[in-house]
Formats: sequence, structure tokens, C-alpha cells
Amino acid sequence: MCGIVGYVGTEQAAPILLDGLAKLEYRGYDSAGIAVSEDGKISMKKARGRLKVLDELTHGGQTMSGCAGIGHTRWATHGEPSDVNAHPHINQDESIVVVHNGIIENYQKLKKNLEKRGYEFVSQTDTEVLAHLLDYYYHGDPIEAITKVMHRVEGSYALGILFKDHPEKVYAVRKDSPLIVGKGQSGNLIASDVPAVLKYTREVFFIQNEEIVCLDREEIHFYNVDGEEIEKESSKIEWDVNAAEKGGYEHFMLKEMYEQPKAVRDTFSPRIKNGTVEIEELGMGAEEIKEIKRIFIVACGSAYHTGVTAKYIFEEMAKIPVEVDMASEFRYRDPLIEEHSLVIIISQSGETADSLAALREAKARGAKTLGIVNVVGSSIAREADNVMYTWAGPEIAVATTKAYSTQLIALYLLSMHFSKVRGTITEEELTEMIMDLNRLPEQIEMLLNNKERIQRFANRYLAAENVFFIGRGIDYAISMEASLKLKEISYINSVAYAAGELKHGTISLIEEGTLVGAVVTQQHLYKKTVSNIEEVRTRGAFVLAVTNEGNTDIEKSADYVIYIPPTNKYFTNSLAIIPLQLFSYYVSVGKGCDVDKPRNLAKSVTVE
Ligand code: AGP
Repeated sequence: MCGIVGYVGTEQAAPILLDGLAKLEYRGYDSAGIAVSEDGKISMKKARGRLKVLDELTHGGQTMSGCAGIGHTRWATHGEPSDVNAHPHINQDESIVVVHNGIIENYQKLKKNLEKRGYEFVSQTDTEVLAHLLDYYYHGDPIEAITKVMHRVEGSYALGILFKDHPEKVYAVRKDSPLIVGKGQSGNLIASDVPAVLKYTREVFFIQNEEIVCLDREEIHFYNVDGEEIEKESSKIEWDVNAAEKGGYEHFMLKEMYEQPKAVRDTFSPRIKNGTVEIEELGMGAEEIKEIKRIFIVACGSAYHTGVTAKYIFEEMAKIPVEVDMASEFRYRDPLIEEHSLVIIISQSGETADSLAALREAKARGAKTLGIVNVVGSSIAREADNVMYTWAGPEIAVATTKAYSTQLIALYLLSMHFSKVRGTITEEELTEMIMDLNRLPEQIEMLLNNKERIQRFANRYLAAENVFFIGRGIDYAISMEASLKLKEISYINSVAYAAGELKHGTISLIEEGTLVGAVVTQQHLYKKTVSNIEEVRTRGAFVLAVTNEGNTDIEKSADYVIYIPPTNKYFTNSLAIIPLQLFSYYVSVGKGCDVDKPRNLAKSVTVE
């Protein structure tokens, strides 16, 4: 997944492009480039490496004059990270230049056709095909050329395009990759995501699939795939600008971990009214809720892990069968979606390609769909029948923390609401759970304040090569998330295992000193998991246990214990994950990894 920006206005474009790319670097950061047009000439600079390299190459953009330009920060899909594969890509006579987020799936065929017509390629990217295809179809009218290209290419794209013949204009078009337009004071902008334009404007347009945009310094025009002009309404962004800044924290991830108490409260408060749960945006009445026969929860990565937690809760509390799928599996497994099925797609970005495709598959099979999404106006938010937003605010760090925590809250609320409607919990139980929800923010805060102790413990494991996390039931789901957090930001091999499954093979990997993180918050499974702790300990493991206050006898079995305060048994994930997030964070920092932008990753994977 990559980040694209564009600007046209009264100011020099290059510094504005670099500033916008800096806000999008979390979307991809193996190379970057910008192109500007001035006096009928297009100039371009691009470089492998972080944006800093390009910034230094262009002296903060000062060496590139011109008031119209496009920029790109890359997460490589086709062609290794290199200067030549960095975007933008330009046609042979340097009259058309393009930046692209997405994948052109039929680029090989298009490339062969173009080569037969004498086009020469210099890069290994799919994107370069677009520059030459635009050239092939361009006869003076950019919109006509763009629509023709749209009819030829398959796959996903958000494009920023400059045409030398139209120096004071920036063109853009999207299909399945995100794109927004910002209407600013000094000019107009395009970007992959809101943070890139917030410094210049709060008035944005969310571009729908197959819509084309033409910006000049005053006006913004929109067209459909047939080249007909269309009208669009703008939206006002309410975020404060600092929300997308580090705010004095060393890393976005640490800042976002500390924002969890507020994010959790902001997500549940609007949905607790008159002592009960009210989810107005659900779009499902009592009868429809009572008729639900099965729930499918579909997501990727950490969002998938919240779905695994929710399965235990929905089935135990609401008595509704639940299937949880990784989106990349769901969309190809021919899911049997019968009548009265609800498909819940969970996604922080709302742009994850696999999750978006799964949503479309579920709708095509006639399911009612609900999105649990953090980014307002994102593709999944718009395409699901209904959307329940998590109010975590912008999440910049690639490793999710506050969005994960708010996804859990949304799922708790949903299961409480369904259980209330279906009569599987009493009013008293509901009231008790609401009180437990209200206690979560300060309990999370208390656990976050434990960070020094966790940092000291983490520093003992910087050289670890293999770490295991085990648990049963909801604790197994927590182990999955703990394991992913450690893997993705510290590059240590980590595995989450159902505690009861270890003895069926994996326990052979336990050696003297192997770290095993045991999550033991499900009191009814406590003894079983403690016996698994003893199994690994007798084989040399060092056991870190995360368990409920009061379970002090665990200190006879575990080497290091972190206690979480009392809460509803269904909500323990929200608390147990906090020390485990901190553990991963401090291991990553201790190893000198790039916490916010880990190698090989991107914040939202908008390609398959
Ligand atoms: C989690 O820390 C990772 N960044 C990743 O697993 C992420 O949860 C996954 O890619 C899903 O992203 P989404 O929530 O934006 O769809």
C-alpha cells in the first residue's frame, strides 16, 4: 500500500508535497518521489529509502519550482525498492507523469501490447504501464485519456497525474484504493488519506470508485467513468491537527497506547443511554436481531483477533453461532451464507483489500453486512449496509493498539445489545456489564502506568529468538494479538498457541530459557492453563503470566506475573493486552527497530 499526494495552487508545490508525504509515510516507506510542472515542463525527483532521502535530495523541495505537482511514498508490490522503481513514472517524451497506489493486475498483458507498439519500459513496476497507456490514449483531452485507461486496466488504483500540456492542473482517479480531495485556501490537494491535507484544509471530498477529479488552483471538477461532469458534496473533518502528530511521545505507537483510555470511552459512551446499550447506527430492529441465525466475523490481522474474542462472547452471551474468518480465506472458501446471516467486517482503515473483497462477497451472497471501522468515509464504511464507527481517532503507527481496543468495545456493545434483545441476559447482568465498561478506561490507564516494570522485563528478552504465547478461550485470542504485536515490531519469531494444544507437537520447541507468555484471565479455565504452564516450565521455559488480581498462587508456577484488575470475564482482553502491548513496544525499542514503521509492513494493506 502506498501514499499519494497532489497540490495545485499559488504556493510552490514541492515543499507541500513533501509535507503531505510525511503524513502518509506510514502507508509505505521504501522509496519516494515527486514531480512538478512549470512553464510546460515536468521535472521529477525520486529516491530509494525513507522520505528523508528525497527531502535532502531536493533541499526540502526548494530546488523544484512550480505550483502544481504530485508525490508518492511506496510500499513495493512489483519491482524491488529502487530509484528506478520509485514513483512517479513518466512517459517517454516526459509529457505525462503518474503516481499510483494499488495493483494493476493485467499489467503484463498491457505491457506486452505497448511494447509491440514501440513503447520502452525502464522499471519493473506495474505503474509504469499507466504512464505509457495514458500516452497512448492522450490526444489533447486528459479526461478522455483517463477514461480510456480505466476501461483497459484491471485491479486497484488511486492515481495522481500531471499532463505537460495542462501545467496548472492535477488529475486524479480511483478504483478500490482510497483517495480524497482537499479544498484549501492557497490551492487544492489530493491525497490517499486525510492527515496529508489537514494542515491546509478541513473541507474534503471522499472520492468514490471510478470517479475522476481535475483540480486547478481555484476549482475542483469531478467526472464519472463516461467523462460526464458530476456534482459532489464536501465533508468537514472534525479531527484536531495534533491528533495526527506525535504530541511529545517518542513514537506514535506509545502515544496511541496512551490514548486507549480515551478512545475506549469515546467508543462506548455514545452508545450507553438511559442505563442500556443503544446502537442507533446498527440499522437492525429487534425482530431482525432475534432472527439472526449465524454471525460471520471477517477481518485481517489484529482486527481478526478481536473477532476471535467476539466469537466466545457472542456464543456464550447471545447464544448465536459465530464463524470467524481471515478475510483472505473467507473470500475464496465459498462460505455458506444462509438467510438471516449477519456478516461483520472489522477494519481500522476501512481500506484493507481482502476485507473489502470479503464484504463484497458477503453482499453478493445476500448477507446483511455491518462494518466496524475507524476511518470515517472509508470504502468498507461506505459499502457495508451499516457501519458502527470506532472512535479511536487517527491511528498512525503500523502496529494497531487503540483501534484494536476500540474494536473490542464495539463488539462487546454489539453482543450486549443482541443479548438484551434476545433475552439471553438479565437487566441486572446488563447493568453490571455497563458498570464494568465504565471502569475500563481508568483500569487501562493504571496498567499503562506500570510501564517501567514492563520495560525492565522486556530488556531481558531483546535477544530472544522464539517466544510463545498460550491461553484458552478468550485468553487464546489475547495470545494471538500479543504474538502479532511482538512479531511485527521486534522481528522476533513468536507463536500463539491454544494452551491445550501445545502437548500435541509444539511443546517439542520449548528449550531452556524459552519465554512463554501465558494469559490466564478466564477463571473457569485457570487450573487447566496453570497445568500447561507447569508442562512448559518443567521443560525449561521461563513463564510470564498475565492473570487476574487475587490469583497469587500462580506465583508457584510462573516466573513473572502481571496482574490485571477485576472486570467482566468477557472484557479481560481489553486489560490483559495492555502489558503485552507495552512488552512488545519496549522489546522493539530496545532492539532499535523502527517501532512506527516496521520493515516490510504498511499501515493498511490495500493490495491482495
Ligand atoms: C496490526 O498491528 C497490523 N497492523 C495488521 O495486522 C492490521 O491489523 C491488519 O492489516 C488489518 O488492518 P485493518 O484493520 O486496517 O483492516
